[in-house]
Amino acid sequence: MGSFAFSVFFFLISSSIAQTTSFRPKALVLPVTKDSKTGQYITQISQRTPLVPVKLTVDLGGQFLWVDCEQGYVSSSYKPAKCGSAQCSLSSSKACGDCYDGPKPGCNNHTCGLFPYNSLTHVTTSGELTEDVLSLQSTDGSNPGPIVVAPKVLFTCGYTFLLEGLANGVKGIAGLGRGKVGLPSQLASSFSFSRKFAVCLGSTGVIFFGESPYDFLPGRDISKSLSYTPLLINPVSTAGTSFEGEPSVEYFVGVKSIRVNEKPVSINTTLLSIKDGNGGTKISTVNPYTVMETSIYNALTNAVSAAFSGVPRVKPLAPFGLCFNSSNLGSTRVGPPAPIIDFVFQSPTVMWRIFGSNSLVRVKDDVLCLGFVDGGVNPRTSMVIGVHQIEDNLLEFDIARSRLGFSSTLLFQQTTCSNFNFTSNA
Ligand SMILES: *[C@@H]1O[C@H](CO)[C@@H](O)[C@H](O)[C@H]1NC(C)=O
Ligand SMILES: *[C@@H]1O[C@H](CO)[C@@H](O)[C@H](O)[C@H]1NC(C)=O
Ligand SMILES: *[C@@H]1O[C@H](CO)[C@@H](O)[C@H](O)[C@H]1NC(C)=O
Ligand SMILES: *[C@@H]1O[C@H](CO)[C@@H](O)[C@H](O)[C@H]1NC(C)=O
Repeated sequence: MGSFAFSVFFFLISSSIAQTTSFRPKALVLPVTKDSKTGQYITQISQRTPLVPVKLTVDLGGQFLWVDCEQGYVSSSYKPAKCGSAQCSLSSSKACGDCYDGPKPGCNNHTCGLFPYNSLTHVTTSGELTEDVLSLQSTDGSNPGPIVVAPKVLFTCGYTFLLEGLANGVKGIAGLGRGKVGLPSQLASSFSFSRKFAVCLGSTGVIFFGESPYDFLPGRDISKSLSYTPLLINPVSTAGTSFEGEPSVEYFVGVKSIRVNEKPVSINTTLLSIKDGNGGTKISTVNPYTVMETSIYNALTNAVSAAFSGVPRVKPLAPFGLCFNSSNLGSTRVGPPAPIIDFVFQSPTVMWRIFGSNSLVRVKDDVLCLGFVDGGVNPRTSMVIGVHQIEDNLLEFDIARSRLGFSSTLLFQQTTCSNFNFTSNA
């Protein structure tokens, strides 16, 4: 039933694309900026008929795109998903609802619903599943190319109150989760390219959907220098609200051990595997710093402290637990000199190496702190790799092959995530 519904849906999308555009892109590109006040990563898409720009907070683990339909949603191509439709089964929605205040965007009868979630405030609600036109910029991997249109992209309606806690001007969340209604899978089926995407976040950044290359000035194709580790499925949903039996759409990876200056840190490895939906390691664009279960956090902090014993300590500044006087520390190409932290994956040679630019945070002119935070003794997920650790790293999430490609810091390759050339050659 599920796969039959999916193929019907896919056929509808591809046939209407062929009518509206003859150019079939291999990849799309979205520019990303970091909001200075909230630290959130913000992108902008064009949606609706007529098209309007919509600012969105990027949530790597978000289930789908949701936008505020309560205020200012005007579109002649808005089309709610009727209960029992292929769209509803694609989304695995098991909720069918009526709304007595419409019809209007966000309020239609006999429409299936999902649960839009604000991952910053952990607030969730229910909203109707619907589709509308989405327009994005294509890319050859080096520059932006022609604008392309996906006529039917599913999203969920949220409400104005759900925007609370999001950066100024933002109207929703771009969910990049691995599920069928996540933006990566929908864009892949709209344009028939691979179900994969890459994020590169820094002071500004970029998201690619579809095929590589991922070119950053000066002339570096980062797809050529990636290491790979399997993406793992957490069988229990980690969303705010979900239907029973749904797996998590977040991106989990198998960190097997942690090393500091190549010496293993002694940690309880049971915490690193996923059991009954608990434990394991995921990647997040919502947490500003990597969050670790207390015993892992303490072990890492002690190891870094010992490896950095020559550097004077200063009183820690919250949320950090280990800070240094950096006035005599100097700097390197990859940030302040710091003990090297490795997240080791499926074999001792596959590791995500973390240098000073990603491990230390400058909190004052002469104070640097270890940019990891204590997540308490019983968190749902033992390690959540956060924004500071992924900045100026390229991460490729290949959903079809279920693997993560990672670059470590681009500073070693003399580039940054801000160096994609956004001058259009179209
Ligand atoms: C939904 O149906 C009810 C009656 O079945 C009707 O009163 C209401 O106006 C309808 N709402 C919309 C949005 O069509
Ligand atoms: C390791 O962690 C697991 C899961 O929290 C716990 O049950 C176990 O007692 C821990 N082992 C040690 C040696 O602390
Ligand atoms: C750091 O050390 C310098 C001397 O090397 C001192 O002047 C400064 O006050 C120290 N800063 C802090 C925050 O302790
Ligand atoms: C950026 O791309 C444009 C268009 O292809 C090109 O003219 C320009 O030289 C590029 N900039 C750099 C710094 O290479």
